Amino acid sequence: MEHKWWHGKTAYQIYPKSFCDSNGDGIGDLQGIISKLDYLEQLGVEIVWLSPVYCSPLADQGYDISDYYNIDPRFGTMEDMEALIAQAKQRGIGIVMDLVVNHTSDEHEWFRKACQDPDGKYGKYYYIRDWHEGEPLPCNWRSYFGGPCWDKLPGHEDKLYLHVFHKKQPDLNWENPEVREEIYRMINWWLDKGLAGFRVDAIINIKKKLPFSDYPVDREDGLSSIGHMLDDATGVGSFLDEMAQRTFRRYDAFSVGEVFNEKDEELPRFLGDNGYFSTMFDFAENGLGKSPKGWYDAKPVTPEEYKRACFHSQRRVADVGFLSNIIENHDEPRGVSHYLPQGDCFPASKKMLGGLNFFLRGIPFLYQGQEIGMENFQYRSVAEVDDISALDEYQVSLNAGLSEEEALATISQFSRDNARSPFQWDSSPNAGFTTGTPWMKVNPNYLHINLASQREDPNSVWNFYRTLIQLRRNPKYHHTIVYGALTPYLPEQENLMAYCRHSEHQTLLVLGNFQRQPQTVPLPAPVIQTLINNLDALHLDGDVLHMDGYQFLVLEL
Ligand code: GLC
Ligand code: CA
Repeated sequence: MEHKWWHGKTAYQIYPKSFCDSNGDGIGDLQGIISKLDYLEQLGVEIVWLSPVYCSPLADQGYDISDYYNIDPRFGTMEDMEALIAQAKQRGIGIVMDLVVNHTSDEHEWFRKACQDPDGKYGKYYYIRDWHEGEPLPCNWRSYFGGPCWDKLPGHEDKLYLHVFHKKQPDLNWENPEVREEIYRMINWWLDKGLAGFRVDAIINIKKKLPFSDYPVDREDGLSSIGHMLDDATGVGSFLDEMAQRTFRRYDAFSVGEVFNEKDEELPRFLGDNGYFSTMFDFAENGLGKSPKGWYDAKPVTPEEYKRACFHSQRRVADVGFLSNIIENHDEPRGVSHYLPQGDCFPASKKMLGGLNFFLRGIPFLYQGQEIGMENFQYRSVAEVDDISALDEYQVSLNAGLSEEEALATISQFSRDNARSPFQWDSSPNAGFTTGTPWMKVNPNYLHINLASQREDPNSVWNFYRTLIQLRRNPKYHHTIVYGALTPYLPEQENLMAYCRHSEHQTLLVLGNFQRQPQTVPLPAPVIQTLINNLDALHLDGDVLHMDGYQFLVLEL
């Protein structure tokens, strides 16, 4: 496998709206991020992905872009963006932006023009179909945020447009070469500014199975999940290859795909040498427990399922390429609230979960607040909900017969708002995120979970994450941690998640006791030294290790 500049890095996702507000309007912004660059450098991350900061009506929090060439004034200016790129670079940090090109905002100039003249140039930028009241829709796909993915084209009673996400996110027609040209031009324009690369949003959706047709109905709403269509669609690869060729590869840029539904045999083309992307997120764990019926029907994830999903993904890509490993992002609940058994969310277990994910082969992507162990947010009423996906799932839960209280409890568990509450910097009002009124409430637990107090405490979750990152950067272990093979160790031993990372002259054993009870683990070879331990003690009896509940260790063998 060819070595790349980004292989050895640790990445960090910022959700700009909730990271740091520099001017007191309650909304995080680019100057706020700039003011935290020293912090990011100190943490040790070298790639920073920003969720979208382009002009947007924020119907889906910036994933609905109305101008790809400008920064939304709420986030700052183009000068701020350029300053961020330059100042990050001085600290050895590459800035990665979000690339949202499956759809635009309905307020994008292209869509406005398409509405004015559906038969003209811009009408062909989207999927627009003739339709008359009473006729069936062109197809029965359910949009990701609920309801049919067809809506009336504004200003036209007899035309529909396609949106696989929210109705304010009309899908771009990638079959049209002019659309693709516009997109490549925009990507290169940004790369010319010195951007390190892109996180590529929802990209698998750009290929539609045409002509539009129905798939099996899978809920009482009479609609069909987009997943059925995606399984059936072929040919996304030619778009992706063209995009990589015309943009990323020319700049040796980093690209991380948000890809679901890829088929095993496609993996080498997606993320092998010269693949469509540098890497792709591993969503195997995030998908666990989910139900096609909706969030209300989801099952808690057990440690055994978590382990098997990680190992399965590792096996799939073993020699092919690099995954990007996460426990959470802006679309998921907080990993510690989601994957740790109920009642077991405390510093030691948070560290174990973080450590187990961090040393998987691939690029670790931390999400803002993960490094201080931020937890889910408890709603008190549905009026507090911002996430459009959660609002839809609330309705789905009620329709399925849940009480309002139960529906609220369900969405509290899964809402994307869980990850979007403001970063908890310190114990001052609003956790030091803003001097004004935050756009979203701060998690009341900020008084005991915040960065300032964790900096002081050598045993904090934050200092633990710094240790993880430093070990990955340590030249003595870097090669093994980055390129070493991964072999599951005692995968059948219940609630033990353990794996070896080995290169020619080195073996590291990573172990997590994923339960409250202690357990005993025979070691495959003598221990040379303990590199990381999330607890004080190490009970080693010859080649038998007695692990305490939620103990996490990295041993050099
Ligand atoms: C991706 C984003 C998500 C957004 C969606 C539509 O899944 O991560 O936040 O809602 O795409 O752009
Ligand atoms: Ca602001």
